[in-house]
Amino acid sequence: MIKDIIDANNNVTVGAKEIEILKEHFPACFHNGSFDIERLKEYLKDKIHVTEEGYELRFLGKNYARLLASLDTTTVIVPDAEHNNLPENKDSKNIYISGDNLDALKHLLKSYAGSIKCIYIDPPYNTGSDDFVYTDSFNFTVEELASKLSISEEQASRVLDLTRRGSATHSAWLMFMLPRLLLARDLLSKDGVIFISIDENEHANLRLLCEEIFGEENSAGEIVWKNSSKNDEDYISMQHEYILCFVKNKTFNGGDWHEAKEGVQEIFTAFAGFRKKYGTDWKAIHAAALDWYKQFKASDPISDSSHYSWMDERGVYFPSDISGPNHGQYVYDVIHPITGKVCKAPASGWRFPEETMKEKIADGLIHFGEDETTVPNNKTYLQDTLNQSLTSIKYRDGRVASKRLTSLLGANVFTNPKDPELLCRLFNAIGLQDGDIVLDFFSGSGTTGEAVQNLIADNKNLSFILVQIKEDLDNTLKRATGGGKAVAKNAIDFCDMLGRSHTLDNIAIERLKRIRQHHQQQNPMFHGDLGFKHFTLQETTNQSIEKMERFDPHSIFGDKTLVDEFGVPTILTTWLVRDGYGLTSDVKTLNIEGYELYYMDKHLYIINPNLSNEVVASLLDQFQSDAGFNPQNIVIYGYALSWGELQGLKDSLRVIRDGEKNMRINFDVRY
Ligand SMILES: C[S@@+](CC[C@H](N)C(=O)[O-])C[C@H]1O[C@@H](n2cnc3c(N)ncnc32)[C@H](O)[C@@H]1O
Repeated sequence: MIKDIIDANNNVTVGAKEIEILKEHFPACFHNGSFDIERLKEYLKDKIHVTEEGYELRFLGKNYARLLASLDTTTVIVPDAEHNNLPENKDSKNIYISGDNLDALKHLLKSYAGSIKCIYIDPPYNTGSDDFVYTDSFNFTVEELASKLSISEEQASRVLDLTRRGSATHSAWLMFMLPRLLLARDLLSKDGVIFISIDENEHANLRLLCEEIFGEENSAGEIVWKNSSKNDEDYISMQHEYILCFVKNKTFNGGDWHEAKEGVQEIFTAFAGFRKKYGTDWKAIHAAALDWYKQFKASDPISDSSHYSWMDERGVYFPSDISGPNHGQYVYDVIHPITGKVCKAPASGWRFPEETMKEKIADGLIHFGEDETTVPNNKTYLQDTLNQSLTSIKYRDGRVASKRLTSLLGANVFTNPKDPELLCRLFNAIGLQDGDIVLDFFSGSGTTGEAVQNLIADNKNLSFILVQIKEDLDNTLKRATGGGKAVAKNAIDFCDMLGRSHTLDNIAIERLKRIRQHHQQQNPMFHGDLGFKHFTLQETTNQSIEKMERFDPHSIFGDKTLVDEFGVPTILTTWLVRDGYGLTSDVKTLNIEGYELYYMDKHLYIINPNLSNEVVASLLDQFQSDAGFNPQNIVIYGYALSWGELQGLKDSLRVIRDGEKNMRINFDVRY
């Protein structure tokens, strides 16, 4: 399985995927291996404007980054059996992956391409102090890279230098982000949405990169999140960061995004108090409301609704514009109910015809001024406008999320976690539906997981996939400065207290467990899916790779040690994902005379060594006698079986091909 991938990776070139797409959709443009661009132009003629502006984001290593996206991962997926078999996790659809997200995304694509509705990521911002340095484990030589990228050896050596010297330049950061975003795009569903947190250091670069990857026309806007009130820097003290948002394809996501207005409940409560005090003296209530609103700062969401300062029997309202959108819309006289005189009319005429206006006045739905000198207004009630379009400015003190996480875990173990409430707001706004998956592949302390758990506890049928590298906290401590040192130390102590190794994923895992417990305590009758399955990505050792290279498929013995290297659950999990069954599939174990095989839909997996003739005979029997047993793909771990066992199996199964079921069985031996 790894050797096959290593062999395939050796032949990968940049743009191979794009060329495949062209071949699939425009076969007529290819002749004897050459591409006829004039033919393609013919197809597109008059249908699309072709620009030759040459405008693009360029940086050192851009093609190298594309190449990395095209290479398959050589890691395997190790399931955490103990955790995954706990009652709260065993049927869970939520997934936590410990490992590098470049590998994780490549695994995920095999099962989840085009099926993730929402991605939220909060990558390293490359601030100079956030520890971002480019590293990778692809060991190309200058010659190999020059040939793969069709560049000179001098250019190849500059790119490799950038990958090896632990760079934190803009180029290095872009080179890190590009393959991840490319893969992320392919994971999104047609109507999928991606949110990316970033600050001023890479904001401009990230926008250009995203416009290139997702298409400028798929930008859904960006949110400015004012999260701090620091005032301690020269020039401009930055108090905000950004959340960029792109959709996969605007044709499929109409973007009718709404959020609940904040602070509404507080306003209703305050008005209920005024009503109690002033009865139906609406002017006194209005005066009290104006006074009450004064206490709120502009950054408080309540102040956004301070125009709702009137009340009548129906509820709290604001007097909204009643003029017609076009000049001279409807022109007639409206009589003031107290003075009996004709009210001032809007210059562009009334919005409604006279009949409608009369009905509204009779129903008490028009707000009149003291006398006829002010233009009457429409009454817009707060209870009818509880939702608003998702707005671009969010105020939320970043310290609140930190404090809440500290109180949940009993120690300050992570600097600047994002705010789960803010994320819930975004997820709710885009209208997640039953069964939707939210992915975060830079998940840090697990905030996105908590946000989704909170929504699940609120009876939304969603699930999450989180990925987090096994960040070494002892290293973090070594590099930390100032307040970061104490936080890293706390994180290490916290892991010790849990009895787990010093890596950040262990903290996030504990956070998700505690959030589940919290919801369970709040609502013991709740049976929603608040657990999660845990997997770790593991590199193959050089020793095993050498052993795989040496293995002779014609050998009279299998190599059991290559089964032991990974273990059956790891091989099976990695393959189930590769074959499109995901990480939470319900694979069945068939036990034939003590020999275990694994069966999932169209696939039958043979991984264990020592496949006897008796087992093969029983298997044959099952094929012939069990109408519901129809695996069309027999997947075999090539190292486990000897050449003789393999041939015996193939010969026996040939019988089925020609038998009554007339099945087309595909034999897939993986090395
Ligand atoms: C800014 S933090 C995310 C914080 C998170 N939003 C939260 O609220 O806790 C970025 C995280 O990405 C992780 N990371 C960096 N490179 C990664 C990689 N290649 N694969 C997976 N995670 C990575 C870092 O360890 C860090 O924890």
